This record gives sequence, C-alpha cells and structure tokens, in this order.
Amino acid sequence: MSQAREKIIINDVGPRDGLQNQAKILSPAERVQLIQALIAAGINNIEIGSFVSPKAVPAMAGAGDVFAGLPTGDQYNFSALIPNRRGYDLAKASGVKTMGMVIAASETMNNKNINMSNEQALAVTAEILAQAKEDGLSVLAYIATAWECPFEGAIAESTVLELCGKLIDLGATEVSFADTIGAATPAQAKSIMSEAVSQFGAEKVFCHFHDTRAMGVANVFAAVEAGVRKFDSSIGGLGGCPFAPGATGNVATEDVVLMLEQMGFDTGIELGKLLKATSLAAELTQNCDGGHANRWIQRQVEKGLLAA
Ligand code: COA
Ligand code: ZN
Repeated sequence: MSQAREKIIINDVGPRDGLQNQAKILSPAERVQLIQALIAAGINNIEIGSFVSPKAVPAMAGAGDVFAGLPTGDQYNFSALIPNRRGYDLAKASGVKTMGMVIAASETMNNKNINMSNEQALAVTAEILAQAKEDGLSVLAYIATAWECPFEGAIAESTVLELCGKLIDLGATEVSFADTIGAATPAQAKSIMSEAVSQFGAEKVFCHFHDTRAMGVANVFAAVEAGVRKFDSSIGGLGGCPFAPGATGNVATEDVVLMLEQMGFDTGIELGKLLKATSLAAELTQNCDGGHANRWIQRQVEKGLLAA
C-alpha cells in the first residue's frame, strides 16, 4: 500500500500580485476567467484581488465584482488583499472571508505602500484583527519586505520574528513572510523560517517569494526544508509591486508545483492543466513568459504523459 503523500498548499496570487502592476488592465470578467483557469488546474487557494484605492492601483478596481463572479464552496479559499480598515470593510461587504492584510517590516515601505508609519500600521492591523475576530473572518497577515527593503536595505531576522509574534498574538490566522523584492537567499530563507516554524508552528506561517534574482524555487526549497508547508506563487510568474522599485514577478506556480510534486509532495494541482492557465495569462496580459518549467511540461503533455 502506498503511503499518503504529505500535502503542501499552493496559494496562487497571480490575480492580485500578478495583475496589479500590469500595463494592460484587465476587466473583472477577464480576471474571473483567469481564476477559473486556476481552479480548473486544481488550485483552490487563490488571492483574487485587492480592495485598495483605485487611484493607487487602477488594475485592482472592481475586486467586489471579481469575487461575485467566483464559484462558492467549502473547497475554495479565496482571499483578498486589504491595506487599511476601508479595505477590510469593502472586502467584508463583498462577502470575502479571508483577508490578506499587509504590514511591512520597514518604516519606509509602510510609508510608500500604505501611507502609514510602523506604529500606525500596527495600530490599524490590531484594529482589523480585533474586528475580524468579532466577525468570524480569517486574516492572513503579510509581512512585506521581510528580508530586504528596497529603501532601507537588509531587515534583521529578529525584527521580523518579533513582528510575526505580535501579529499572531493579535489574532492573525497565519503570517506570511513576504520577500517583496526577491532579495532573500536560500540560506536566509532557511534560517528565519526554521526559527519561525519552531517558535510559532508550521500551521501558522507561510512564504511569499519573488523571483527577481532567480532564487524563487531555491527559496521555496529552503523553506520546505525548514518545515514550511504553504507557499504563495503566481501563474506564469506574473507580478511585481508598484511601490517597491525593482520587484519582478512572484516565483511561478508551475515551477514550484513541478519541484514539489517531483519531491513527492501532494499539491493537488495538475501540472498539464496549468499550461492553459499560463497561456490565458499570457493572452490576457500580453506580458507573461511563463515559468521555466513550462516547456518541459508542454513536452510531457505532447508525449501523453500529462493530461492537459
Ligand atoms: N479601497 C478603496 N479606496 C480607498 C481605500 C480602500 N481600501 N482606502 C482609501 N481609499 C480612498 C479614499 O476614499 C480616498 O479617496 P478620494 O481621494 O476619492 O477621497 C483615497 O483613497 C485616499 O484615502 P486616504 O485614506 O487618504 O488614503 P491614503 O492617501 O493614505 O492612501 C491607501 C493609502 C492605502 C489607500 C493607498 O495608498 C492604497 O490603496 N495603496 C495600495 C497598496 C497596495 O495595493 N500595495 C500593493 C500590495 S502590497
Ligand atoms: Zn508580492
């Protein structure tokens, strides 16, 4: 009898992180189409958009319409990013059950991203976490620039772990360590995530890597070694943050899924079917090359070894 494979959750953030910075703005209907292609490949955890100022991020306007166009069911875990209380209220009114709340590890990034000091950001986060508890909603607290800030440079591990502890104490369901500009090395990823898993438990923490320096997959591997069992990634490697200079796309979902499945983990995602989602992302944005694994996956489909 074969043993059940250990599960790793892949949360595709393409419809948010991937699209927020694209020159070509997609309509809510097109964003729903992309999310449906992800679902068709077996992805049930998806960041569907953000409830932010449409002046700050025009590409995310209409997030409520996107959410309204999605299927419902217990198997789906759709989250939406929120920068402040207003975003929380709008997302909640749209029926969103899981909020992705962002707070940066550095003061300058909080300023540029959400126009708040660290102190203000923490106060707003505390207020939102208390409200979410009352409302029975989940909050994924994202620590942006958890390894390096584009303005302040390297961030001390202790600063980030301390912030993580505070967020968990305040009621965050999970905390994401986000490498916003893709500057982490695998050694750094392993070091802080080993500490985070031992202090807070694997079920409380996850990682969000960008592939700016081609370290995305290596960093995922390092975090897996540290015991992390949930990752953000984005279809086709789409992405980048409008407020973090030099940040390119997230590590590509297809690259992460291929590595994890070949290592024996169960992501629940069908590699061959990701191709359709990647082609759709490319067609819609006109700006998506796909992950490094795409051509190999394509060949397996052509040989009949993977279902498309
Ligand atoms: N959703 C929609 N509109 C919002 C909003 C939200 N969550 N928060 C504020 N606004 C609107 C206000 O109503 C106001 O609109 P008006 O100019 O028409 O009156 C305007 O945005 C400015 O509001 P204010 O409270 O003064 O916010 P700010 O100027 O301090 O801007 C943010 C801060 C957070 C609203 C804005 O910078 C933002 O949305 N940033 C997005 C961050 C992001 O998505 N980063 C990438 C992911 S990490
Ligand atoms: Zn990101």
